[in-house]
Amino acid sequence: MHKILVTGGLGYIGSHTVVELQQDGFDVVVLDNLNNSKLEVKENIEAITGKPVDVIIADVNDSKALNDLFSSHHFDGVIHFAAHKAVGESVEHPIKYYHNNITGLISLLGVMERHKVSNLIFSSSCTVYGATKDLPVTETTKIQKAESPYGTTKILCEDIITDFAKHKEFKSILLRYFNPVGAHPSAKIGELPLGVPNNLVPYITQTAKGIREQLTIFGSDYNTKDGTCVRDYIHVVDLAKAHVKALEYVNGMKQHVDVFNVGTGNGNTVLEVIDAFEKVNDVKLNYQIGSRRAGDIEQIWADTSKVSKVLNWNAQYTINDMMKHAWAWQKTLK
Ligand code: NAD
Ligand code: UD1
Repeated sequence: MHKILVTGGLGYIGSHTVVELQQDGFDVVVLDNLNNSKLEVKENIEAITGKPVDVIIADVNDSKALNDLFSSHHFDGVIHFAAHKAVGESVEHPIKYYHNNITGLISLLGVMERHKVSNLIFSSSCTVYGATKDLPVTETTKIQKAESPYGTTKILCEDIITDFAKHKEFKSILLRYFNPVGAHPSAKIGELPLGVPNNLVPYITQTAKGIREQLTIFGSDYNTKDGTCVRDYIHVVDLAKAHVKALEYVNGMKQHVDVFNVGTGNGNTVLEVIDAFEKVNDVKLNYQIGSRRAGDIEQIWADTSKVSKVLNWNAQYTINDMMKHAWAWQKTLK
């Protein structure tokens, strides 16, 4: 494994993964259409690693651009991040999500097949488990019918990759991320949410910065230790490192497809996250308790024994680190 294509490599998780790959000695080419990222991320990655990143501005749905790219490089593997990810938007614009996330994957698989590139790491999500009662969730926990078109795209993409790999000389690892948060400790790269954030941590940091007036906690009457929802928050750098481990493993694995939960194995309530943010940064957060958000599940966290045993990967960063780095990053943003 030497040269890797990273689609969506200027995005939040992709950019952190490019850093880890470069620091591990991989030669990285990024393909991104800048749909949800900025070209300056390239310079910020380079400032961290001291190595140039080859960035191609193109869409994964552009088969000609992909074909040209695969003709001019020999890739040993591909990490596919490029997709839309806003759950609410997917409910309003399902076709946009089917097109970008599903057709995009099919376009990529077609070019990989043509150029005999047979290793793929795919970004999936714990959303595939839905509101399961089977906690913590293992990789064999039953997949539930998705609550949103976004969730549907993740389930369908997992199915397509599994089916394709079964019939072709193809190997893939599906990584089911829990809740990625935080930013690179250098504060040079991090999440760049467009408009009003839907996710908890960017909403916290924007409220602390004064961009948002107040954070609303969505419900305090859940059956959890303090009444607020529980999630498995994972530092984006730990998540990025899991991709490097997956790449190192995929080529030699016996089966065509394997799947791993990527979380810390610990659940935190919304109030615990806020408390960690306030304490570690010595900042008081303006928040109120509001009503439940439609579609939210009460609690979910990962059983991480498989990823720990098979990929030899364990999360290193704590919730305090996540909050510290998220705030350091927010403070650099105008
Ligand atoms: P992101 O939006 O920050 O990054 C995605 C990148 O892909 C962006 O740079 C965007 O410009 C690019 N992109 C989108 N469509 C493209 C296309 N058609 N062609 C080329 N580039 C395209 O998102 P992220 O948070 O880094 O997520 C990466 C992946 O992880 C996605 O597949 C997402 O669904 C999945 N995921 C994310 C989370 C999360 O909480 N962030 C959780 C589970 C799974
Ligand atoms: C959401 C998506 C999930 C996606 C993930 C990562 C839904 C139902 N799920 O997960 O599919 O993979 O983002 O992008 O949208 N919260 C507040 N106040 C806020 C924001 C959030 O209290 O202003 C609470 C939520 O109720 C939840 C927790 O914080 O309990 C985490 O929310 P969020 O960051 O949006 O992630 P998920 O809902 O877990």
